[in-house]
Amino acid sequence: MHLLRVLAVMSLGLQVNAASSVNSLPAKSVVEYPLSAAAETHEIIAASEKLLLISQQTDGALVKVALDGKGNPTGSRAWTVTNQWSGLHGLVLHSGSSNSSNSSGATIWATEQFDNTILQIDPNGDDINSPPKIINRFPIPAPAFGPHGILQNKGDLWVACKDSSHVVRITIDNPDEHQIWPVSRRPIFIAVHPTSGDVYSGLDLSSKIWRYQNDGGHGEEMDVPADKGSVPVGLVSGPDGNFWVALLGNSTGGTGTFGRINSNATIDWFTLSSQVGSTAGLIHVAFGPDPSQLWLLGSSTSCASCVNAVFTVKIDDVAGGTASSRIAIQNSIVLPTQYSWTHRIIAHQGTLYVTELKTALLAHISGSRLNWLEHQ
Ligand SMILES: *[C@@H]1O[C@H](CO)[C@@H](O)[C@H](O)[C@H]1NC(C)=O
Ligand SMILES: *[C@@H]1O[C@H](CO)[C@@H](O)[C@H](O)[C@H]1NC(C)=O
Ligand SMILES: *[C@@H]1O[C@H](CO)[C@@H](O)[C@H](O)[C@H]1NC(C)=O
Ligand SMILES: *[C@@H]1O[C@H](CO)[C@@H](O)[C@H](O)[C@H]1NC(C)=O
Repeated sequence: MHLLRVLAVMSLGLQVNAASSVNSLPAKSVVEYPLSAAAETHEIIAASEKLLLISQQTDGALVKVALDGKGNPTGSRAWTVTNQWSGLHGLVLHSGSSNSSNSSGATIWATEQFDNTILQIDPNGDDINSPPKIINRFPIPAPAFGPHGILQNKGDLWVACKDSSHVVRITIDNPDEHQIWPVSRRPIFIAVHPTSGDVYSGLDLSSKIWRYQNDGGHGEEMDVPADKGSVPVGLVSGPDGNFWVALLGNSTGGTGTFGRINSNATIDWFTLSSQVGSTAGLIHVAFGPDPSQLWLLGSSTSCASCVNAVFTVKIDDVAGGTASSRIAIQNSIVLPTQYSWTHRIIAHQGTLYVTELKTALLAHISGSRLNWLEHQ
């Protein structure tokens, strides 16, 4: 009798195991990799399938991070690009290079905020022990100074000059040809709308968004509605043909709010409703190939008690329709290290990478349920 029961339980156990296949139980993985010690670790871009580049502003350092075929970091080395006080910050790929299978041929643009310079840098291959090479250098035209965020839009570079509060456009082939716009304090991010072609910059201390319609005018400044939150950052072009902004909030907290900027400059606002998300200060946005899905980065940059986490979000009705757009699914991945001032997030190789400003960490988020959207 007893033996039969045991056998019955065993066989039931085997059936359950066979059906759900324990070894395929999807897991999420967050692994934090210490980079070389630096007081501030800032921007991150993928230069090739196997190479990430990260700026450490307090050290004027460009960190080369090698990846294996699955996107796992396997080594890193920090290189001082010009000098340790240059204020190296903004990083963007030079257009036309993003299709290379490795970084040979790919070059990047970088800002040196304190040296008031834009550099074009050749990372010099995927080998982290090959030093990056400077191949071009443009000064920032006066009265602008303090370049922070940078954008390449066709043959132009656009620079958000945080310290002087100007936006600058420079023609790459003829840097003497430039335009300078004074804006409210302080331009941080800069990006181009993928449908309208308008250039936008987020003005953090004024809680406004500057929009320029390529009309030779002064541009216009749009207020972030106070009931939505404050400090527009993380301006990112989406594969949905729109442009996304995140609100960082103030020292008392964030509002878990982000916005979709339509081609006519109207903004549809969305707010995370989960307990961990609703008070998050959001600093950056990343997209993969799915235009309805994005990742938001929560940061303690403005408020010490705000969570450092990644929020996966799926938006319903991105393509339009009669119902208003809404957040269909939201999930949270809280990072192991808190109080870290997470700074930037990118999607690459089907995984996510996050820089943590105050702790010199690179977080790598992967796993078969990375997006937490599939219903098993
Ligand atoms: C990469 O892009 C360049 C310029 O668009 C093109 O000439 C080249 O053929 C592309 N290379 C590959 C491998 O797709
Ligand atoms: C780039 O990739 C090609 C083909 O895979 C390889 O032959 C070449 O050595 C690589 N270059 C670098 C700098 O890694
Ligand atoms: C901080 O932001 C919250 C939410 O937007 C707002 O209610 C509050 O007044 C702000 N506090 C300060 C000091 O600006
Ligand atoms: C602006 O564009 C959005 C999205 O296409 C649309 O829903 C809205 O009605 C437009 N608003 C105006 C004032 O044109």
